[in-house]
Amino acid sequence: MNETCKTIINRTSTRAFKKEQVTDEEIKMIVDAGLYAPSGRGLQTPVIVVITNDALKEEIRRLNASIIGNETIDPFYGAPVIILVLAKKEGTFVYDGSCTLMNMMIAAESLNIGSCWIHRAKEEMDSPFGKELLTKLGLSGEYVGIGHLAIGYKEKETPLKPRKENRVFYLK
Ligand SMILES: Cc1cc2nc3c(=O)[nH]c(=O)nc-3n(C[C@H](O)[C@H](O)[C@H](O)COP(=O)(O)O)c2cc1C
Repeated sequence: MNETCKTIINRTSTRAFKKEQVTDEEIKMIVDAGLYAPSGRGLQTPVIVVITNDALKEEIRRLNASIIGNETIDPFYGAPVIILVLAKKEGTFVYDGSCTLMNMMIAAESLNIGSCWIHRAKEEMDSPFGKELLTKLGLSGEYVGIGHLAIGYKEKETPLKPRKENRVFYLK
């Protein structure tokens, strides 16, 4: 198996992170991988927001936790970086954003950096927080929250889960 396939197969979700911040160079490599994801009709609908500011991370933590219904938990597992992916609401925006998130998870794994998709970005962006964020970013138009990545150096390795059977068919 080549290195790319090995990276894809060895990726697992990380839910325990070191406090140490990921370097700017590593974040850029992950983000670039996201930028080069495919998008329907090449519309490039996704927008990538890298959040390392402590106050903003805490605001998102609280909001995401409140959507779950328990403000005391940290849905981002203490990750030093939160990457939020939004997409302009046109064409195949949900799929586009999902490809962006997946490319970034693979890139992170290739750098031995942990990642985990964290949900509820849609609800966040539908809230007043989302409207304020769009204003802060200078974005107008309709943007939908697709997902976040919790990103950081792995505190421990997560074992691969066995794959369910009977999910592949070869019709020759
Ligand atoms: C659309 C989507 C939403 C997810 N949301 C969360 C989440 O909110 N919190 C979380 O801990 N993991 C979340 N995950 C990660 C999955 O739980 C994880 O991918 C799955 O358990 C398989 O484990 P693996 O990634 O280690 O292979 C999400 C994954 C996807 C694809």
